[in-house]
Amino acid sequence: MINVGVLGATGAVGQRFVQLLAEHPWFKLTTLTASERSAGKLYRDVVKWRLDVPFPESIGTIRVSPTSVSSLKDVDLVFSALPAEVAKETETACANAGLAVCSNASSHRMEPDIPLVVPEVNPDHLALIDVQRDHGRDGFIVTNPNCSTIVMTLALAPLRGFGFHSIHVATMQAISGAGFEGVPAMGIYDNVIPYIGQEEQKMETETLKIMGTFEQKTVRPAAYRVSASCHRVPVIDGHTMAMWVDIQEPVEKVKEAFIRYKPPIKGLPTQPKESVHFMDDPDRPQPRLDRNRGNGMTVSVGRLREGIRFIAMGHNTIRGAAGASVLNAELISSKKYL
Ligand SMILES: NC(=O)c1ccc[n+]([C@@H]2O[C@H](COP(=O)([O-])OP(=O)(O)OC[C@H]3O[C@@H](n4cnc5c(N)ncnc54)[C@H](OP(=O)(O)O)[C@@H]3O)[C@@H](O)[C@H]2O)c1
Repeated sequence: MINVGVLGATGAVGQRFVQLLAEHPWFKLTTLTASERSAGKLYRDVVKWRLDVPFPESIGTIRVSPTSVSSLKDVDLVFSALPAEVAKETETACANAGLAVCSNASSHRMEPDIPLVVPEVNPDHLALIDVQRDHGRDGFIVTNPNCSTIVMTLALAPLRGFGFHSIHVATMQAISGAGFEGVPAMGIYDNVIPYIGQEEQKMETETLKIMGTFEQKTVRPAAYRVSASCHRVPVIDGHTMAMWVDIQEPVEKVKEAFIRYKPPIKGLPTQPKESVHFMDDPDRPQPRLDRNRGNGMTVSVGRLREGIRFIAMGHNTIRGAAGASVLNAELISSKKYL
């Protein structure tokens, strides 16, 4: 077992990490950190558990530590669910101190020597870990993309053979994507908010890095044009997106590609049986009915029409955040980087 810690363990993503790591077969969760407000208290006393699964009592007696390298002496790997502005410095300090860092924060995603990985889409980009080591780092940072970008790139993975150039996407994003303090209840009730800070830019840039080609110790970005419009809607968990991709082949061929899709990885504990699930029903996918497919790790795709147009939906704090990081850590571990 590898001892692991979670940075920002009391937040929306941090709690998902605790849920996914409490009984993990490869990782033993020993350390939890949060802000000074929470440090020093037992996790069960300080966390406001807001997930749709029972609280893992075995983790409740861990005492929350301050977020610093000195709190992480007993671990080899940390999962970061810190706000981006805190993550930048803390994650760098952890990696320089020899730790492996799997991060959800946006701070390091676009740095040239940091892998931005979705295991089913670009597992070969983990080779950037060696580049970080060439740059003199003892540990390393591996990031997963923004929650909407993960859902979108997974939905595009089965279609890569079609040679498209242009992707348009309009998202309908859950309130949990803004963290626990992010959206006041009275602001989202009976409402749609047509702006999510930096989200469109993240979808438009991160996608090109993830779907890019690893060559000569660097990633050459994919030559797609991505145009995104992002919106917050009154859904608790699950980001839905309408997508338009300029594929010229008939709908039947695209449907076959979704149904036949097999990802290039296997044998990882958090990997769902199906990474992408195709639905023929005319009114699916829906967040309330489909977000927990594959324990929240499957992206559901449906309403495939000429155009090519379709709907993709995935759980934003599992597939789009904590589950994505845990799957990355499993891939890293299976490739013997730890
Ligand atoms: N929510 C999503 O769907 C989602 C998806 C993908 C990526 N992300 C990214 O994941 C990260 C966490 O997001 P979240 O939604 O979980 O946020 P959140 O609910 O606001 O949680 C933030 C966590 O960070 C801790 N924290 C805040 N300020 C700190 C400081 N100065 N020093 C140390 N710890 C501090 C908080 O501890 P206290 O409880 O003690 O304040 C809490 O544990 C962000 O970078 C976000 O962009 C989120």
